[in-house]
Amino acid sequence: MAGRKTEGKIKAKFPPARILGIETSCDETAASVVENGRAILSNVVASQIELHSKYGGVFPEVASRQHILTIYPVVEQALQQAHLGLSDVDAISVTRGPGLAGSLVVGLNMAKGLSLGKNIPLIGVNHLEGHLYSAWVYPADIQQPQPEPKFPLIALLVSGGHTELNLMQSHWKYQHLGGTTDDAAGEAFDKVARLLGLEYPGGPSIQKASASGDSEAFHFPRARTDGQWDFSFSGLKTAVLRTLQKLKEDGRAIITSDLAASFQAAVIDVLFTKTMAAAREFNVRQIVVAGGVSANTGLRGTFLNQVEFPVNIPSLSFCTDNAAMVAAAGYFRFVHGQRDGLEMDVIPNWPLS
Ligand code: KG4
Ligand code: ZN
Repeated sequence: MAGRKTEGKIKAKFPPARILGIETSCDETAASVVENGRAILSNVVASQIELHSKYGGVFPEVASRQHILTIYPVVEQALQQAHLGLSDVDAISVTRGPGLAGSLVVGLNMAKGLSLGKNIPLIGVNHLEGHLYSAWVYPADIQQPQPEPKFPLIALLVSGGHTELNLMQSHWKYQHLGGTTDDAAGEAFDKVARLLGLEYPGGPSIQKASASGDSEAFHFPRARTDGQWDFSFSGLKTAVLRTLQKLKEDGRAIITSDLAASFQAAVIDVLFTKTMAAAREFNVRQIVVAGGVSANTGLRGTFLNQVEFPVNIPSLSFCTDNAAMVAAAGYFRFVHGQRDGLEMDVIPNWPLS
């Protein structure tokens, strides 16, 4: 295993290792080198957002073709930024699902090629697990990394494709408490943004529009669900649509910022209330919030301003898809002995637990 370079700021419980992470599950081609599951030595993300924005969402074939064009330079740059050669990494961790099959295949085959060429152990990880482990990472050059999350913890995962609450007793012990019964939180942001004529991706657009809006202008519903820990966002989306239609029928002004702010407040309220209730119920030591929607400043502020539980939310650049989170998740699997073979296939629909 490679010697430690930046460790010392945190006490390592596991053996040192540098992991090259590769992520191509959707529309970001990403590679990163992470040391000891936490310290990021490099982080490269080639975003395809501009390519897909004209379609109002991710176009799968365009995504996989773009990954083919960018994967090699992205991995090369990640190694260069870390001042390492491939032989200096102890393992390659790659996202094998969930995600778009044609996109996942590109990253997985790149990882297999590198693994085979240099005889480096290969580890396949779940993208959702990656998002949760983004709460562990920090740039190697910062002086005071946030403390490592402590188990047991409640993990709220809010991304474009998933919304789930999990109880984690230790590494990879996920007890699925609940999830969305319809749209994911990020999907709701994207769909409502489209209704309001805001650009893709919807989350950042709604956040921006909300900044000048009144979050109490409209009282949108906070959905009740049969499962105590489940979420539902499609009724909220319909409520925004009906309100828009009614405003138009009545010839009243449509103040996009008020609609955006009221919608955003409803989403944050539901996510926060259920997560806090779960944290109390299971008497945890920690809350982790991760996934693309955790970039939302309103959501971050709401969680960070409460004092009942310590909260780890990844810094902004690690909320949306990146490979540092994949490398971090891979590290904890690597030190516990996971190794995958070249026969490993992608799993486009792969639940976390
Ligand atoms: O985790 P992610 O990058 O990709 C998936 O794995 O799905 O999440 C993307 C989602 C999109 O739906 C996007 O609109 C949402 O995260 N998002 C946000 C914000 N930034 C990204 N939602 C709310 N507020 C934001 N600032
Ligand atoms: Zn993601």
